[in-house]
Amino acid sequence: MLNPLPRFFLVLGLLAGVCIGVGCEDPYAPPFQSAAARGQVVYETNCKPCHDDPKLELRTKPPNLGSLFDRKLLPSGALATDEQVRKTIQEGKGIMPPFGQMLDKENLDDLVAYLHKKK
Ligand code: HEC
Repeated sequence: MLNPLPRFFLVLGLLAGVCIGVGCEDPYAPPFQSAAARGQVVYETNCKPCHDDPKLELRTKPPNLGSLFDRKLLPSGALATDEQVRKTIQEGKGIMPPFGQMLDKENLDDLVAYLHKKK
């Protein structure tokens, strides 16, 4: 059994190996300077198909996520806080799937930064 510290470096090494082998950065991708700009990409990939597509026939209509933090409450009636929104994204809600396994902390941070700006 490995101690936590060597295990951390092992995982780090594996990840670095994967990055060098496969290439983690797309050399043709434009550089996104701000968290919100990166978060917009996360949003468009993962959230937009449900939350912004009026043609989609879902049992529960996904709420519009513009100006989400301008009101005190979220559509469900829960407090409109970063913690609550992060929890919804990570754990899902009703028919909304959980994204906890799909988005790492950076992606989640960027996504929440974008949701703060989204009109
Ligand atoms: C499969 C479609 C689907 C996808 C994909 C999806 N959502 Fe949702 N989302 C919903 C539905 C439906 C609801 C309403 C849930 C309910 O109240 O039962 C919802 C609700 C929400 C809410 C409001 C929660 C509340 O308390 O009112 C937030 C915030 C949210 N989604 C964010 C996101 C984000 C961010 C993503 C992308 C990571 C995302 N959703 C992806 C369908 C989806």
